[in-house]
Amino acid sequence: MRRVVQLYKSTIGKKIMMALTGVILVGFVLGHMIGNLKAFQGAEKIDAYGEFLREMGSPIFGHGQVLWLVRIVLIVAFIVHVIAALQLTRVGQKARREKYAKSLEYEASTYASRTMRYGGVFLLVFVVYHLLHMTTGTMHPDFQIGGIYHNLQVAFGSVVVAGFYLVAMAALGFHLFHGVWSGFQTLGLNHPRYNRYRRPLAVGVAVVIALGFVAIPISFLAGILS
Ligand code: HEM
Repeated sequence: MRRVVQLYKSTIGKKIMMALTGVILVGFVLGHMIGNLKAFQGAEKIDAYGEFLREMGSPIFGHGQVLWLVRIVLIVAFIVHVIAALQLTRVGQKARREKYAKSLEYEASTYASRTMRYGGVFLLVFVVYHLLHMTTGTMHPDFQIGGIYHNLQVAFGSVVVAGFYLVAMAALGFHLFHGVWSGFQTLGLNHPRYNRYRRPLAVGVAVVIALGFVAIPISFLAGILS
């Protein structure tokens, strides 16, 4: 544990934690996107899928217990990812004030790193709104507990809400592209042997996940789902 804390204190340690928590978060968004596609099989299927998630681990675990374990892992990964990002931003800013740190000055102001920060803050706002919208129903006009299809149908009946989701998924796509791209380097996979997979993998992850997600709001807008 002490070695993990020691590693975390260094810049590379923070980047490694960002990359590892990023892998967990990418796994979640990929699974979530695939789960959402159940909407194309109809209300019954996607609502039953939601119930399955709550029943996971039964009968050894009680209702929702495994789901909560998964949520805790996700929440911890998300918090570590955000805190490491904030701390790395500060390291970059400090380096910019110190004249000698030329390489860090350059690194701290690349197009990719700026997109990651602003895009990351936007995604944070989206996730908070999304939880209040689709999970607690606080910001949903006609929320039904367990009525996932109904909740999606009502939500994406509004062009403004669907539009906001589309913009957020575009931001997610950029974030995933830059994240997978730089995570490759951080995790030491930028060996010449693997380098040719780096760009296609980053583009592939970003495009597949973003397109899979936007398929739902677009289909409701276009009347493919109703
Ligand atoms: C068009 C895109 C999306 C749609 C239509 C969508 C839909 C939903 C729905 C219907 C739920 C509630 C599921 C249930 O009641 O069991 C949900 C939960 C959730 N979504 Fe999304 N989602 C989208 C994108 C995202 C993205 C990009 C993220 C993360 C960056 C995300 C994170 C979450 C989280 C954390 C939950 C709560 C899961 C839980 O703990 O029960 N969603 N989403």
